[in-house]
Amino acid sequence: MTVSISPDPLNLALGMPKAELHVHIEGTLEPELAFALARRNGVSLPYADEAALKAAYAFDSLQSFLDVYYACAAVLVTRADFCELMLAYLERAAADGVIHAEIFFDPQTHTARGIPFATVLEGLEDGLAEGARRWGVSGCLILCFLRHLPEDECLAALAGAEPFIGRIHGFGLDSSERGHPPSKFARLFARCRALGKPVVAHAGEEGPPAYITEALDVLGALRIDHGVRAVEDAAVLARLVREGIPLTVCPLSNTRLCVFKTMAEHSLPQLLAAGVRVTLNSDDPAYFGGYLNANIRAVQAAFGFDAATWYRLARNSFEASFATDEEKAGWIARLDAWFAEAGAAPA
Ligand code: HPA
Ligand code: ZN
Repeated sequence: MTVSISPDPLNLALGMPKAELHVHIEGTLEPELAFALARRNGVSLPYADEAALKAAYAFDSLQSFLDVYYACAAVLVTRADFCELMLAYLERAAADGVIHAEIFFDPQTHTARGIPFATVLEGLEDGLAEGARRWGVSGCLILCFLRHLPEDECLAALAGAEPFIGRIHGFGLDSSERGHPPSKFARLFARCRALGKPVVAHAGEEGPPAYITEALDVLGALRIDHGVRAVEDAAVLARLVREGIPLTVCPLSNTRLCVFKTMAEHSLPQLLAAGVRVTLNSDDPAYFGGYLNANIRAVQAAFGFDAATWYRLARNSFEASFATDEEKAGWIARLDAWFAEAGAAPA
């Protein structure tokens, strides 16, 4: 029996195989799991119950979100906790058609509370291995440094991670952007590059387009996380296109954190029209109203993209990944098969 897929662009996009390149594992902590872990570990959260926590999700800036995000991360204590968190994410991602995920983690958030780096890493790896077995999702870890902290503290965090270097796929930069330009971390990222790892950085989310330029020139970033303010500077936008720099765009995050007032005002259509290699991602899905397919639904409601645009976005997600050429070719063949079966051969 053959099952026909509706060639409606939204259905194509929801079901298509895709990669997720910008998701913070701590940002996948759902309120239910947060309270379960708080009880299990005897940690008290600064919210009376799940309803009170959800009520705190009325963010007006990146910082207002980060305050809640760091408070909730305190419930993660044991190796099993990190494994459970990873498995919960991978189950939801797989249901949304994600077949490859490059996942951020923030070790400084945990080591500062006395949790050993090895506990964090091993728990996340346990989850990745089990997720690969259960749902066939391939995954790897990108270690993010917290940019609100001094560079010396980040260098110490890197030194703590170096014994595990073969198990870390790349390095990134996150947390409060304003007032913490990429240039603050020139030495740190020189060391990351010397270790032979790909580098990414959050830039041009709340910060100005000049931070995107610094992330490329000073840090050697191969992808820019967010980068949605690039449209404010024609030279920065032209450079992203010319050099084929991928952006990991997170539409629900940007509207929830008031980078754009409404989805209709999001720069995504301008970025695509300019020819930027855009990918779509969920960032902190437990906090921003949903996982990758929720982002796709919100984007489609605002912009009504055609099948060719959805194909391009999924293809970009594989091409911009840090996987091998062979892995990428295999995933793109699956994407092509999905569109061909729907009778919507990509342009
Ligand atoms: N921006 C910066 N830091 C973060 C984010 C983000 O969107 N999510 C988690 N840490
Ligand atoms: Zn992010």
